[in-house]
Amino acid sequence: MKILIVGSGGREHALAWKIKQSEIVDEVFCVPGNPGMDAIGPCFDVDPCDLHKMQELVLQVSPDLIVVGPEAPLAAGLSDALRARGFDVFGPSEKAAQLESSKAFSKDLMAKYEVPTAAYGRFTDLTEALNHLETMEAPYVIKADGLAAGKGVVICQTLEEAENEVEAMMTGKFGDASAEIVIEEFMEGEEASIFVLTDGEGAIYLPAAQDHKRVGDGDTGPNTGGMGAYAPAPVVTPRMMELIQALIVEPMLSGMAEDEMPYQGVLYVGVMITASGPKVVEFNARFGDPECQVLMAGLPGDIVPALLVCATGGLVHAHAELSNMMGLREFQPSACVVVANEGYPGDYAKGSIIGGIADANALEDVTVFHAGTDKDSDGKIIAVGGRVLGVTATGENLREAVDRAYAGVDAIDWPQGFSRRDIAWRALK
Ligand code: AMP
Ligand code: GLY
Repeated sequence: MKILIVGSGGREHALAWKIKQSEIVDEVFCVPGNPGMDAIGPCFDVDPCDLHKMQELVLQVSPDLIVVGPEAPLAAGLSDALRARGFDVFGPSEKAAQLESSKAFSKDLMAKYEVPTAAYGRFTDLTEALNHLETMEAPYVIKADGLAAGKGVVICQTLEEAENEVEAMMTGKFGDASAEIVIEEFMEGEEASIFVLTDGEGAIYLPAAQDHKRVGDGDTGPNTGGMGAYAPAPVVTPRMMELIQALIVEPMLSGMAEDEMPYQGVLYVGVMITASGPKVVEFNARFGDPECQVLMAGLPGDIVPALLVCATGGLVHAHAELSNMMGLREFQPSACVVVANEGYPGDYAKGSIIGGIADANALEDVTVFHAGTDKDSDGKIIAVGGRVLGVTATGENLREAVDRAYAGVDAIDWPQGFSRRDIAWRALK
C-alpha cells in the first residue's frame, strides 16, 4: 500500500515515521515534507493549498490513502477535491473543518448541540463588540474568527486592553480572519488535548495529552504553537474521559452527521477541566503539534488500519479490532521536547547549522522529529523555522520518558536552539 502524507512539520514527520512502520505499507510519499521525512520516502515540492497541483500530484502518485496533517489545506477544501477524484482521504471536508477555521461556526454548533463551552458573543460591528465588553468582567478572551497561525486568541486583564484588542482585530490585525470576532467568558482550570479518530460515526479515543503553550519554564512568557507535550495526561482521569465522550464528542459527531457534514479524520478537542466539568476551549480539525509526536511514539501497534477505516467508513464495527491493532491498551508513556530557534515566538534567524541529531537518535527509545529544518548546499541540516526539532522519547513511565527526551535534547549540538526544561511538570509534580 502507498500512503501520501500532506504537510511538513514535526506532526507530519511523526505520522510518516509511524505509518512507514506498518506491515501493510510499502511506500510513504510526502508533500512537501522536510529533511526528516525525506529519509522516509520521496518528498514532492508542491503547495498543499494549491488544489489544482495537488490533484495532478495525486493522480501521478496514485496513493491508497492520503493523510492530511495541517489545517490550512483542510480549510482550503483539499479533502473534498481529492475525494471527488476517487481517493481515500484521512481528514475532514472543508465544511466540517470549519470547526477550526471559524471560531464563530464552532461556537454556534456547540450551542446548537448543547456542548459545554465558555459563554460567547460573535461580532462584526465594532460598537456592538465594545458595548458587550462593558457587560463583562475581567479577564476578557478575544478571538479572531478565522485562522491566524495560532495567534488569534488574546486574553486581556483590563477593560482598556480588551477594548484596544477588539479594535485592533476588527480593523485588520489579522485581515479577513479578524473581521468577525468572538468574545468569550474566561474559563479557569487545567487544559488537556483529546484526540478522536473517527469516520463520522464511530470513534477511537487516543490517550489524553497535554501541551505546553507558553515559551518559558513554569508556563511563563508569550504563547507559542507548543513547546512540548506528553501523554497520557493524568488530569484526564477515566471518569473525566467518560464525561468528555458523553458531553462533548458524541453530541458533536452525531449532530454533525445529522446536519450533513459528517466529521472524518481526527478531531482535536482542547478541553478545560473546570470545577464544573470539562468544557471546550477549541476544536481543531487535525492532530496537535507536538501532541501528535507523543501519540505516534507511544502507540506500540499499527495505526494504518484505523486511519484507513476512518477514511472509508465502518469504524463502529471494527472498533475493538482496530484499537487492538494500534496497541491502545499498551500505550507507552511518552514525552516530546521542542527545540526552538532563538527569538521564537518572535523573529528568529534562519540558516544556523544543527549537529548531533544522529547522536540523539542513537539513544534508547529517542526519536528526533524534524519541524523547521532544511538542508544547506553541503547537505547539512539547518534551522529555517521557529519550532525546529521535536525530541521525543518513550519510557516505562513518564519520568523515564522525560529523562530520555532531555538526554536527546542535550545530545543536540545547536547553540542557537533552546528548550523548556520542565516538560510534563504537572504530571510529575
Ligand atoms: P485557542 O487557540 O482557542 O486554543 O486558545 C489559545 C489558548 O488561549 C488556549 O489554549 C487557552 O489557554 C486560552 N483560552 C482560550 N479560550 C479561553 C477561555 N475561554 N478561557 C480561558 N482560556 C482560554
Ligand atoms: N499544540 C497545539 C496545536 O497543535 O494547536
